[in-house]
Amino acid sequence: MEAKEVTGTQSRTERADFQATADPALNEAADRTADVKLLTYGELYGLWERQQWQTQELDFSQDREDWAGFPEEERFQRMYGLSSFFIGEQKVAEELGPIMRAAPTEEQRIFLCTQIADEARHVRFFERFYREVGVLDADGLTQMLAQTAEHLNENFGLLFDEMLKRRTDRLSEEPEDSEALVEAVTLYHMVIEGMLALTGQHFIMDFNEREGTLPGFVEGFQNVARDEHRHVAFGSVFLREKAHEDERCKQAIQRTLEEAVPVAEGVLSPPWAPEDEDYELFGFSIADTRAFAAKCLTRRLKVIGLG
Ligand SMILES: [Fe+2]
Ligand SMILES: [Fe+2]
Repeated sequence: MEAKEVTGTQSRTERADFQATADPALNEAADRTADVKLLTYGELYGLWERQQWQTQELDFSQDREDWAGFPEEERFQRMYGLSSFFIGEQKVAEELGPIMRAAPTEEQRIFLCTQIADEARHVRFFERFYREVGVLDADGLTQMLAQTAEHLNENFGLLFDEMLKRRTDRLSEEPEDSEALVEAVTLYHMVIEGMLALTGQHFIMDFNEREGTLPGFVEGFQNVARDEHRHVAFGSVFLREKAHEDERCKQAIQRTLEEAVPVAEGVLSPPWAPEDEDYELFGFSIADTRAFAAKCLTRRLKVIGLG
């Protein structure tokens, strides 16, 4: 298929269903003012009910042909992004329980229950894509996750298995620790979902749309991205409330970002990429991805009250 000049990104983020999440990163006004309307927890729940989708409905037949036709080198390079998402979805699905339980209000907990269901669906989306397309030849989900984990870099392990797990373990033991909760939400919703997941999705979808490849994957991944905007919208409203309530929470957000942002930037670079910031992969540089992630984070922080 002929490469298109204008990619789908712009039109995607302007779509009514993406805008409906009120994620500050999708709102240009957040460049200028912190006074941006966010959805309430109840409104976010209502949106979740209206934005359901099924992994079973996606058609991966063209994707299977595309994948078989990619040169081996390209398949290997694509595995870094795919593996980071697949394992990332599994880890966030399984680490959200302690955060949900520690959230102080009923409204917050009910929304976070919907998010656990979303993250489970995202894991199944990747599993189904891998299986139907023939990315890996593994028997069960456990074996598939173990095989794909070989493609990850060290920063990935540090961010999820050390930094995130330390906070969720703490919340399991001490759900009343409100600073630990603020740190966990900052790491989970602002850094992992807001900076990493949505940035990776943006560039991966853009590349496939330009190349006209993996249409079933792109369709499903758009649904995943819309879910992630809704999750980040929850993180934004939660952290805005906390930052206004208590100066110590504001400091907890700042401290977590200082610790996590450099590690997250390391995750954006594949293990085999040269140190050079201008290194290009799939038509964009590592510096481009970092700049995109930083811009989204800046808008969200402004709305939270830290900009
Ligand atoms: Fe997810
Ligand atoms: Fe998410």
